[in-house]
Amino acid sequence: MEPVRLDVDTPSRRYTITLGDGVLGRLERVLDEAHAPAKRFVVSSPPIWRLHGSRISGVSDAEPILVPDGERFKQLQTVSRVYETLIRAAADRASTLITFGGGVIGDMAGFAAATYLRGIALVHVPTTLLAQVDSAIGGKVGVNHVLGKNLIGAFHQPHAVIVDPSVLGTLPRREFRAGLYEVIKYGMTSSPGLFDRIARERTEIFARKPDVLAAVIAESCRIKAAVVSADEREAGLRRILNFGHTAGHALEAVTKYRRYRHGEAVAYGMLVAADVAVARGALADRERTALADLITSLGPLPPIGDLSTAQILEAMQHDKKVIAGRLHFVLPTAIGATAIVDDVTRKELKASLKRVGFRA
Ligand SMILES: NC(=O)c1ccc[n+]([C@@H]2O[C@H](COP(=O)([O-])OP(=O)(O)OC[C@H]3O[C@@H](n4cnc5c(N)ncnc54)[C@H](O)[C@@H]3O)[C@@H](O)[C@H]2O)c1
Ligand SMILES: [Zn+2]
Repeated sequence: MEPVRLDVDTPSRRYTITLGDGVLGRLERVLDEAHAPAKRFVVSSPPIWRLHGSRISGVSDAEPILVPDGERFKQLQTVSRVYETLIRAAADRASTLITFGGGVIGDMAGFAAATYLRGIALVHVPTTLLAQVDSAIGGKVGVNHVLGKNLIGAFHQPHAVIVDPSVLGTLPRREFRAGLYEVIKYGMTSSPGLFDRIARERTEIFARKPDVLAAVIAESCRIKAAVVSADEREAGLRRILNFGHTAGHALEAVTKYRRYRHGEAVAYGMLVAADVAVARGALADRERTALADLITSLGPLPPIGDLSTAQILEAMQHDKKVIAGRLHFVLPTAIGATAIVDDVTRKELKASLKRVGFRA
């Protein structure tokens, strides 16, 4: 199969996403075509390297820089370890840092690339479904602070993104599902075709059938690439990708990032947003039901019944999407269309949170 190429065209950089089953086999050629400087360093984590390192070891003469990749290691101390290795290896401005891992490795090592020597070339080779369809595209890099998630960061667009769905074969099922909720998000915001496809081809997708999976990932990447190209810094259109993320982030925060995978929290967040939209008459109830059915069909989500609406509402006030005291909220208006509003009241949210299953 010939790889699919998708362009991301932002004011800071133009680059290509190269996507295809087995594309890792031609990584060097893709890097050369992207003019990624020849002194190359790979950052990955020990488990990912054990599983798939042999497939990319040829791109670098240096030992891989292996750091732990749990969410709790997505912090400045880990970035420091990356800097240290780069300094000792005399990495210079003509160096490329290649991230090989999920969103944690991509964000954290991407931040190292954005800041080392005020910025060196970055290439993402994402290995989770979430990273392939979302975090590797768009240039957001960063780490967590003890007081909050993703509070330290930068925009640093990569030179290239290389997506090989065949690495997903080893991804635990729960991680795979977590990524699929973000794919549903793209369907809801931008593509009825993608939405229907997930419903129709669910079994093949879960079986990670190469052509089916590659098509779903390609459509997701196409949407993210188009949105980022239109609005690199999230001043407008890019905000639609926050669909489901307001309640989702609140849910992650109140459970201290332990109970839910990010995508699972977003799944609940999408249900909340859809409920608000239906209550306002902005979305047909049958479309909300289609979303709920699709989410349910993917498998169980961790429970929410012990969490109170008050807790979630409180956490929402700390959201980055609160601008000048008003919460910007993405409402679905149909499958494939959204509207951004800033007048959703506490009362509306409380009612929707209750209907979705939070404790009163
Ligand atoms: N930059 C952005 O625009 C953006 C967007 C969305 C999310 N994010 C960030 O992404 C992070 C979450 O990323 P994630 O969901 O990829 O989680 P992750 O990076 O923690 O990876 C999840 C787990 O999967 C393992 N893994 C990775 N690839 C594997 C493979 N091929 N086979 C088997 N196991 C594999 C990892 O070792 C890890 O244990 C969060 O920190 C979030 O803030 C960033
Ligand atoms: Zn997300």
